Amino acid sequence: VLYSLTISPKEGWQVYSSAQDPDGRCICTVVAPEQNLCSKDARSRQLRQLLEKVQNMSQSIEVLNLRTQRDFQYVLKMETQMKGLKAKFRQIEDDRKTLLTKHFQELKEKMDELLPLIPVLEQYKTDAKLIIQFKEEVRNLSAVLTGIQEEIGAYDYEELQQRVLNLETRLHDCMKKLSCGKLMKISVPVTVKTSGTRFGAWMTDPIATERDNKVWYMDGYTSSKVVREYKSMKDFISGEDYRLYRLPYPWAGTNHVVYNGSLYFNKYQSNIIIKYNFDTGSVVAQRSLEYAGFNNIYPYTWGGFSDIDLMADENGLWAVYATNQNAGNIVISKMDAQTLEVLKSWNTGYPKRSAGESFMICGTLYVTNSHLTGAKVYFAYSTKTSAYEYTDIPFHNQYFHISMLDYNARDRMLYAWNNGHQVLFNVTLFHVIKTEDEL
Ligand SMILES: *[C@@H]1O[C@H](CO)[C@@H](O)[C@H](O)[C@H]1NC(C)=O
Ligand SMILES: *[C@@H]1O[C@H](CO)[C@@H](O)[C@H](O)[C@H]1NC(C)=O
Ligand SMILES: *[C@@H]1O[C@H](CO)[C@@H](O)[C@H](O)[C@H]1NC(C)=O
Ligand SMILES: *[C@@H]1O[C@H](CO)[C@@H](O)[C@H](O)[C@H]1NC(C)=O
Repeated sequence: VLYSLTISPKEGWQVYSSAQDPDGRCICTVVAPEQNLCSKDARSRQLRQLLEKVQNMSQSIEVLNLRTQRDFQYVLKMETQMKGLKAKFRQIEDDRKTLLTKHFQELKEKMDELLPLIPVLEQYKTDAKLIIQFKEEVRNLSAVLTGIQEEIGAYDYEELQQRVLNLETRLHDCMKKLSCGKLMKISVPVTVKTSGTRFGAWMTDPIATERDNKVWYMDGYTSSKVVREYKSMKDFISGEDYRLYRLPYPWAGTNHVVYNGSLYFNKYQSNIIIKYNFDTGSVVAQRSLEYAGFNNIYPYTWGGFSDIDLMADENGLWAVYATNQNAGNIVISKMDAQTLEVLKSWNTGYPKRSAGESFMICGTLYVTNSHLTGAKVYFAYSTKTSAYEYTDIPFHNQYFHISMLDYNARDRMLYAWNNGHQVLFNVTLFHVIKTEDEL
């Protein structure tokens, strides 16, 4: 049963609504007077907006798809390996004579290690299906909208909008879920550029908009105050066009971060953290990181005044350092990005001077065991569970000396300064699914 609800005074539209449809939903129908040019304009404006939204969603889905495909390849390989292992395991079990061999024990241990991955694999398949379904829904919606754009008369605008909103919400939820996880693998490195001294830092802003791809470049680990800003990765590679910022204080180490348009760095010969805004070209906050060691008291293995490491992940800004109170072990502090106040701290128990580098992904700090050849991600500390585990994630240290290694949540890549080479690594993350045996 349709009844008239209201006549919009602005547009002259008539809105009808059914009390309830068989599924218990309320359906609104909008009727625009055919001869009214004004309302036609309003309607096409709304349609344009809807179309744009759907197109935006398509773009997001493409990004998501790309990421998931990358991880998915890895998962498929793991699955094949697991199946192979299972078969081999059965074969050996059948062969009673080898039961006592060392080989069997090794296989069994490997198998036990892999078993908890089964639910993860299953989840991956579900997620991949979800994305395919999203793609189809967006395609359908696009078609409906395009069709309607040409049509004159009544249409179910409210329901259409509801469909778009609903899809958008689900897409955002899905993206949020898929973008966080546990580090499983680091790809082969890609050398973006060779420039500068052996020690330095380079980075992009993880929460810049999609069109903003500025690159910042800070060569050296002490005494320098000059930051280069390139408009894009392309400009950075060609090295031609850049803007210079002269900081009011020299920096210490190579562990700076650009976050939301500001540079956060450790002021030389102090444990003061400076927040320098690029837009205004001025210091907008500064604060001492209480008890934090500085001046090569608790550096990473390579030295270089790398006592205080500032970084950002999906959850915001972090500081990684060590104090006498914690016997030189790594302390992680969640920072307020505006005021530089410490919001909460964790003591990891891992000695800072034995760490090559560290980076944060989804609230977990990953620590490498060296800055030299053979380095691997050796230790992980979750701030969510306040628990640690030892890991064994290798990566290729192509130029033998790493003085900076940081995760960028927007690109889902590790940025590294590898002996005067600027290098990127892709990472594979697994969604962490709650299982009984999780830490
Ligand atoms: C689509 O994305 C662009 C760029 O991110 C944004 O300016 C615009 O408002 C978005 N449109 C809609 C309808 O969400
Ligand atoms: C998309 O449209 C096709 C054809 O109309 C339909 O079979 C399919 O179920 C629709 N898919 C979704 C996800 O709505
Ligand atoms: C980024 O900065 C803007 C303006 O300074 C602020 O409104 C916004 O909340 C900041 N975003 C984050 C994630 O800190
Ligand atoms: C990361 O993966 C993406 C998608 O496969 C690829 O385009 C990009 O070049 C890779 N980057 C690195 C540093 O390996």
